[in-house]
Amino acid sequence: MSDTKVWYITGASKGMGLSLAKQLLAKGHKVAATSRSVAAFDQLASYGDGFLPLEVDLKSEQSIAVSIKKTIEKFGELNVVVNNAGYGLGGALEELSAEEISENFEVNFFAVVRVVQQALPYLRKQRSGHIINISSIAGFAPGLGWSMYCAAKFAVSGLTEALANDLKPLGINVTNVLPGWFRTNFAKADSIVYNQNQIDDYAYLREYHEKMNNMDGAQMGDPDKIADAFLELIRSQSPAVNLFLGSDAFNRAKSKIEQLNIQMDSWKEVSYTTDFKS
Ligand SMILES: NC(=O)c1ccc[n+]([C@@H]2O[C@H](COP(=O)([O-])OP(=O)(O)OC[C@H]3O[C@@H](n4cnc5c(N)ncnc54)[C@H](OP(=O)(O)O)[C@@H]3O)[C@@H](O)[C@H]2O)c1
Repeated sequence: MSDTKVWYITGASKGMGLSLAKQLLAKGHKVAATSRSVAAFDQLASYGDGFLPLEVDLKSEQSIAVSIKKTIEKFGELNVVVNNAGYGLGGALEELSAEEISENFEVNFFAVVRVVQQALPYLRKQRSGHIINISSIAGFAPGLGWSMYCAAKFAVSGLTEALANDLKPLGINVTNVLPGWFRTNFAKADSIVYNQNQIDDYAYLREYHEKMNNMDGAQMGDPDKIADAFLELIRSQSPAVNLFLGSDAFNRAKSKIEQLNIQMDSWKEVSYTTDFKS
């Protein structure tokens, strides 16, 4: 089997998606990349025939279906699907409108569902492939002030773990990627959405939003190193179901697991009380 693969990456006009696409193309892989505007892909034109820019509305099943069909028509197969597109939503739950919440879930979670549903018929037929869903450390160990973003990323993490079990017998690997802070556009004003409505009692949460804004440009994670991590993942005989990216994500996850263990042990007796006794 060829060592270079056909990749389909969502939200690849900037940040992690763009870094990943560039690194893979430079290594000879074929990349189909989606964006809301293909004009953003002019910078990748020099990669020629190995690159397929796709203007896709990730909220439309039809738009995604057409883009995956075009990928197969151009490259003949599909090996790795990376659900990368997403954006942060800050605010206390009470402060967020129904529209702010549903838009975030549409992009961060339901787009993943749609892409996986449209890709699976091809991967199933091949009896091979790797689906990589980009969740977040927030989809495992939530921080303060991002409740709905965390909920959407937990949904991605939950779906991905379940898919890893369901699809293994069909020869399809599935990995949930949980990055810590990466130096992308993510913390910039045009990539993050904050609650329009503010409730004074939640003023303490603004501090955590400020922390995020101030981190812009100083995050530990290097997006240009993600491609090598993903290549190691897809070449592995036993790929991780959950891959934490960055030492910050790794340590935050470890700390949550330790706390969960302590809490479970101290509540074990109560947990056991609900069993039938005979
Ligand atoms: N950077 C971090 O610190 C960090 C940490 C944990 C998790 N993540 C996750 O990593 C993924 C990539 O983030 P990034 O850091 O590379 O962010 P980024 O630089 O802001 O890029 C995000 C990408 O997602 C797409 N996107 C954003 N809002 C969208 C919307 N409303 N509809 C459709 N597409 C949209 C954009 O696609 P277009 O090309 O259409 O503009 C863009 O290319 C996201 O899922 C994010 O939640 C990031």
